[in-house]
Amino acid sequence: MAFCETNLLSFALVFMFLTPTFVASSHNLSQRRQASILLSLKQNFQDVERSLSSWKDSNSMSICTWTGIECDENQLVTSLDISNFNLSGFVSPEITKLHTLVNLSVSGNSFSGIFPSEIIKISSLRYLNISSNMFNGTLNWDFSQLKELQVLDAYDNAFSGPLPSGINKTAVPKLKHLDLGGNYFSGIIPPVFGGLNQLEFLSLAGNDLRGFIPAELGNLTNLKWLRLGYFNQFDGAVPPEIGKLSNLVHLDIGSCGLKGPIPRDLGNLKKLDTLFLQANQLNGSLPPELGNMSSLASLDLSINNLTGAVPSEFSQLKELTLLNLFINNFHGVIPEFIAYLPKLQVLKLWRNRFSGSIPSELGGNGKLIELDLSTNKLTGELPGSLCFGNRLQILILFDNFLLGNLPDGLGKCKSLSRIRLGQNYLSGSIPEGFLYLPELSLVELQNNYFTGKFQESRNVSSSKLEVLILSNNHLSGSIPNSIGKYSGMKILFLDGNHFTGAIPSEIGELENIIKLDMSRNNLSGTIPQEVSDCSSLTFLDLSKNQLEGPIPPEISQIHILNYLNVSCNHLNQSLPKEIGSMKSLTSADFSFNNFTGSVPANGQFLFFNSTSFLGNPTLCVPYLSICNNSVPATIDELHSSGERKSRVPAKYKLVFALALLICSLIFAILAMIKTRKTGKHPKSWKLTAFQKLEFGTEDILESLKDENIIGRGGAGVVYKGIMPNGEQIAVKKLGIGKGSHDDSGLSAEIQTLGKIRHRYIVRLLAFCSNKETNLLVYEYMPNGSLGEVIHHRECEKNNGTVHLKWDVRLKIAIEAAKGLSYLHHDCSPLIIHRDVKSNNILLSSDFEAHVADFGLAKFLQGGVNGASECMSAIAGSYGYIAPEYAYTLKVDEKSDVYSFGVVLMELITGKKPVGDFGEDGMDIVQWAKRETNARKECVVKVLDNRLKNVPFNEAMQVFFVAILCVQDQSVERPTMREVVQMLAQAKQPNTFQLH
Ligand SMILES: *[C@@H]1O[C@H](CO)[C@@H](O)[C@H](O)[C@H]1NC(C)=O
Ligand SMILES: *[C@@H]1O[C@H](CO)[C@@H](O)[C@H](O)[C@H]1NC(C)=O
Repeated sequence: MAFCETNLLSFALVFMFLTPTFVASSHNLSQRRQASILLSLKQNFQDVERSLSSWKDSNSMSICTWTGIECDENQLVTSLDISNFNLSGFVSPEITKLHTLVNLSVSGNSFSGIFPSEIIKISSLRYLNISSNMFNGTLNWDFSQLKELQVLDAYDNAFSGPLPSGINKTAVPKLKHLDLGGNYFSGIIPPVFGGLNQLEFLSLAGNDLRGFIPAELGNLTNLKWLRLGYFNQFDGAVPPEIGKLSNLVHLDIGSCGLKGPIPRDLGNLKKLDTLFLQANQLNGSLPPELGNMSSLASLDLSINNLTGAVPSEFSQLKELTLLNLFINNFHGVIPEFIAYLPKLQVLKLWRNRFSGSIPSELGGNGKLIELDLSTNKLTGELPGSLCFGNRLQILILFDNFLLGNLPDGLGKCKSLSRIRLGQNYLSGSIPEGFLYLPELSLVELQNNYFTGKFQESRNVSSSKLEVLILSNNHLSGSIPNSIGKYSGMKILFLDGNHFTGAIPSEIGELENIIKLDMSRNNLSGTIPQEVSDCSSLTFLDLSKNQLEGPIPPEISQIHILNYLNVSCNHLNQSLPKEIGSMKSLTSADFSFNNFTGSVPANGQFLFFNSTSFLGNPTLCVPYLSICNNSVPATIDELHSSGERKSRVPAKYKLVFALALLICSLIFAILAMIKTRKTGKHPKSWKLTAFQKLEFGTEDILESLKDENIIGRGGAGVVYKGIMPNGEQIAVKKLGIGKGSHDDSGLSAEIQTLGKIRHRYIVRLLAFCSNKETNLLVYEYMPNGSLGEVIHHRECEKNNGTVHLKWDVRLKIAIEAAKGLSYLHHDCSPLIIHRDVKSNNILLSSDFEAHVADFGLAKFLQGGVNGASECMSAIAGSYGYIAPEYAYTLKVDEKSDVYSFGVVLMELITGKKPVGDFGEDGMDIVQWAKRETNARKECVVKVLDNRLKNVPFNEAMQVFFVAILCVQDQSVERPTMREVVQMLAQAKQPNTFQLH
């Protein structure tokens, strides 16, 4: 179990106890005897070649010279310290024969199995460190013979069962240091621990503990360190008795479900230097008494439900370097005294309801490194002193009501690396030098009122900037040629400004750029062919400018481009046929230009929506039969249908109207044809076809036999049918009572699916209903669902052989991601799936992924990114539900991203989302994070062991994406479009293999 932290105190204690004043044992062990005990221990160790080479049978050398061994004056072994020797294997009970041991440390190896409880017989033992191994079983030993024991460190193993109440005052009266953190201990904290009154260090963090934190811990008056949080889920509140621990220096009870107010008694802890209570459910306001903690340097109360204002008594916290209050309900002004805390380095107050202005002298202490006040209700101007010490690295103030100019001083703040000031009312020009500061990696200034130019840099040779977002301001002038100096740039958004002039050819020097958006400006001239040098580009939007000339055919050399929008320009000539061969391109928009000739009728062009070509009067789209764009005069119909109430100017109304019209032509005319009643059944059936069908209602009804059932889901039963012409279909019969005509879930599914045509989305062919029953007719996917294939089928049918190899899994992941990305970003209106899971990803005959089942999908009204809406009831499937779903009932497209992250985890681990982890309530996300400490390098620990020859880099990258997708905070999850890009990048040619 990973729970990475070095325990400095235990090292200190090692040295304390190594100064020996030992009593020689009564029955002396001979050198030979000790040697043979050590060698028999060694026999059970693996990987000993280098580290224990001195341990060998020879008469010449005393064992006291062997690595890791120390002896007393009688040549008796008193210390065995083989920590961090990269050993594995197990520790045999033989070890207890070294009964003169005072110090035993085997920490930092990979020993497994049971640690021999016989160790309790070594009554001289003072120091026992078995931390950071993989020992399992319980620690229910009889400790009562270990009267000398001062240190017991079992941190970071796989021990389970209840915490050992055998560790108590009577048994181990001298115990000073007890670390049982990072294991799987369950149950309550035994109140007897409160009797260990010599204890200076106690950690039980990172287990599965429940119940109340016992008030008895308040009796541990020598305690300096107390850590109880993380993974544990306690009942009740922080016990006020903790306030009696007057020697406490470090108190960490973060992330363990505590409720209620912060006890004011904590104010008595005058020596406390660190107080971590973050990520609980604490409520109430901040007790003014906390201002008495005169040594306090780090205070983290973030992610709770705390309210009220910051008490004026906090001005006495002169040692404070870190103050985290983010994600709470604090309000009032940020008191001016915060600016005068002499040592303050980190101030993170984001996502509260703070109002008023930012303390005018903030940063004036010359120490400030990180400031995050985003998502509050702050107004007023930015203080000029923020970077007085030239240490400010992170400046995050987005989503407030801040006004005025950026202080000029920020243009010289060389330490700055992350700046996020979007969604404010900032104005004036961007200070000179600001966008070329040497350490900058991220700058977001979008949605403000900045004016003036994007300046040329005079003397910058290189830049670390990776993300620059200037969208939706009033910037003007031309795009500087020095843009090419941003050689590390990955995301560049200049859209929605008043930039003029040509796109500089230096754009081609941005060889790492992934997304480029210059839409909605007044750029003119031609598209420089150098853009094709941007070989990492996946997203290119040049729409709504005044660009002219052709699309350079070289653009097809960008092999991973998947979004191309050049609409609403004056581009002309014919569309380069090379674009058709760009396999990655899933969305393209050429509308409203002056393109001529015929649209290539090959490759990806077959998948583009007809709207992609609108408004090119002389462009012919043969496979959609739109030539000469002869538009019938039916725009009135569209108006009368009242589908869209748009607030957009009249000229765009025409765009929408045409788009809708063409859609209707393609789908509606084919589709909304009612067919006959069947003679066979008395109840009348109505068939709505979404494309031309070569079968009728009888043929569909014929398939509804028990022997044809291929699946049962929450929504209904699925049958397989074979039509007279040999075509295979899947018919989903919704249960009686479900999905009558006005059932909103059903009509959503029908509307949504009927319109969508995408390579990676299951196609709905028809809908068939009578009074009681509704049938959805889909194309048939012969290989079933990803869930079945990965979790059951291969075992039953292929006798355990892996039939989904890594390559196929990665391919499926990318395809499913593209399908979802289409729903989220490229269809209109945008669609949230709401039930993404492996059972809803179906596989065609060649194992191509197709996203299915929109039973829960509703349209994302408004179609704006980030718009979310409340649901009336919990939707989605257990194990896939994003955390915010459960407690806010709010979903947005990021909830789908979470569920997709779970699917990625399934592909990587081969495990089911829930139920594969033994412990109650543990799901795949918690498990995988816990096994790997959410580090991609540790993916090996969770990788499906049926997989062979997995390229390590690919597995690491896919796992990394999965971890990003399942972030607790939905804002931190990537969009599906980004997921597609990141997964596409995971596929690397030069990789080495695991196993
Ligand atoms: C302990 O670990 C060993 C070896 O890793 C394993 O064989 C055994 O089943 C585990 N025992 C328990 C109780 O988990
Ligand atoms: C104290 O520990 C010893 C063994 O370590 C055990 O026998 C005894 O029952 C424990 N006492 C209490 C009160 O739990």
